[in-house]
Amino acid sequence: MRMRNKYRKPTTLHCNAGTRCSMSIVVWSLVGFLLMLHLYTLISHTNVQSKEIRSGLSHHPLFRELEEVEEENIQMPPPRRRSPRAAKRKPKRPTTLIDEFLDESSQLRHIFFPTIKTAVDPTKDAGNDSFYYYPGRIWLDTEGNPIQAHGGGILYDEKSKTYYWYGEYKDGPTYHAHKKGAARVDVIGVGCYSSKDLWTWKNEGIVLPAEENNETHDLHKSNVLERPKVIYNDKTRKYVMWMHIDDANYTKASVGIAVSDSPTGPFDYLYSKRPHGFDSRDMTIFKDNDGVAYLVYSSDDNSELHIGPLDGDYLDVTNVVRRILVGQHREAPALFKHGGTYYMITSGCTGWAPNEALAHAAESIMGPWETMGNPCIGGNKVYRLTTFFAQSTFVLPLPGLPGSFIFMADRWNPADLRDSRYVWLPLMVGGAADQPLDYSFGFPLWSRVSIYWHKRWRLPAELSGKKI
Ligand SMILES: *[C@@H]1O[C@H](CO)[C@@H](O)[C@H](O)[C@H]1NC(C)=O
Ligand SMILES: *[C@@H]1O[C@H](CO)[C@@H](O)[C@H](O)[C@H]1NC(C)=O
Ligand SMILES: *[C@@H]1O[C@H](CO)[C@@H](O)[C@H](O)[C@H]1NC(C)=O
Repeated sequence: MRMRNKYRKPTTLHCNAGTRCSMSIVVWSLVGFLLMLHLYTLISHTNVQSKEIRSGLSHHPLFRELEEVEEENIQMPPPRRRSPRAAKRKPKRPTTLIDEFLDESSQLRHIFFPTIKTAVDPTKDAGNDSFYYYPGRIWLDTEGNPIQAHGGGILYDEKSKTYYWYGEYKDGPTYHAHKKGAARVDVIGVGCYSSKDLWTWKNEGIVLPAEENNETHDLHKSNVLERPKVIYNDKTRKYVMWMHIDDANYTKASVGIAVSDSPTGPFDYLYSKRPHGFDSRDMTIFKDNDGVAYLVYSSDDNSELHIGPLDGDYLDVTNVVRRILVGQHREAPALFKHGGTYYMITSGCTGWAPNEALAHAAESIMGPWETMGNPCIGGNKVYRLTTFFAQSTFVLPLPGLPGSFIFMADRWNPADLRDSRYVWLPLMVGGAADQPLDYSFGFPLWSRVSIYWHKRWRLPAELSGKKI
């Protein structure tokens, strides 16, 4: 297997015929000029929107930190020999990178799931590597254990000025409940990690544990608990957790609600229900500036999303609900807001296999929502068409940097779900949409949402709260 930089420019120009050479120079200069012009428009547009942040145009702190963009040309390994039986079962088709990704014994395994040797370890004196995110690598907590917060979300707690990362604690064996069942891990509970810098995470324990013995309980280990998200209710001063609750066959399709006085729990599990009477699988919650919170969930067998406000104490939905992205078959919603516009990232529905993300925008959170296109930028085409081999789970606004967010995604490892990885990348809102909209009137209505691939990146030093 060979890795090389696909876009590395040759240092010399080779010309055979003078005319062809000058022609190509003209063409490439023109392309270069157009690219520069495009870049300039993009940057100045971004700058107009965020000029309150600080000084200069190309000095946007996130852009400054954008470095080492991975542009790897991954070579497909030669096709493997198939047993005659296997060849009979399935017609031969070329192996795709997604097949490789899903294949435990792939020669490319280390690209998608780098070994523990490369783990990000904030407890080590990492020197110049401090505060760098390495999407896809194992990420250790302050005790040296891999972080277990899959399908997660982050709450910023104003009181303690601390970030809390909640997610599925999946540190158990992966198995199939029955032949046709999806790979699963018994429910262990919701893990919680705390951090001041978004890089060093302390394990706060399992803040909502599974039920070991009571088989009729929603949280019995044989069931499913996914995508826990926590928001704070200013009125009741409670931390409220919403999550997807299901049985092993995904037929219960409900939301579960739990509540706590402290961000680190313990959370009291209240109940589960089918919101508005509909099936509900992947979901998220979003708290707007005015304190109204919303539930978004995949419904009608994942063919559409539903959105509706929660009641005042966030413990239930109200009877208001809208169907959005009808017939689009989207899941893994992650909602955020910028400059009065609502945005959402979703994935397609292909089980544990990665697929293409889409960005959506709306003027009113209750819709109509319009689909803008794939927000992924950089890497290579396969990376962009697979959301960097990951699936959206949350978008975290960066304080003091309007228009800048962290896109959080899960790189699921269906062979060993506990070893699923986190893909955190900078997400920016700004510039004109460059893909056709659902209802194109010939001009873009929304700012573009861009998620930039990085092999390695970090937040501006000011944000992580430490000078390096
Ligand atoms: C950190 O970077 C500086 C400047 O690039 C370099 O001189 C120094 O050796 C690096 N330190 C480590 C520990 O890599
Ligand atoms: C088991 O869970 C069910 C459903 O939550 C509850 O009604 C029942 O009281 C529980 N049983 C025990 C023994 O705790
Ligand atoms: C799930 O489906 C399988 C096969 O259809 C069945 O054997 C099993 O009893 C089901 N389990 C539950 C919890 O419904």
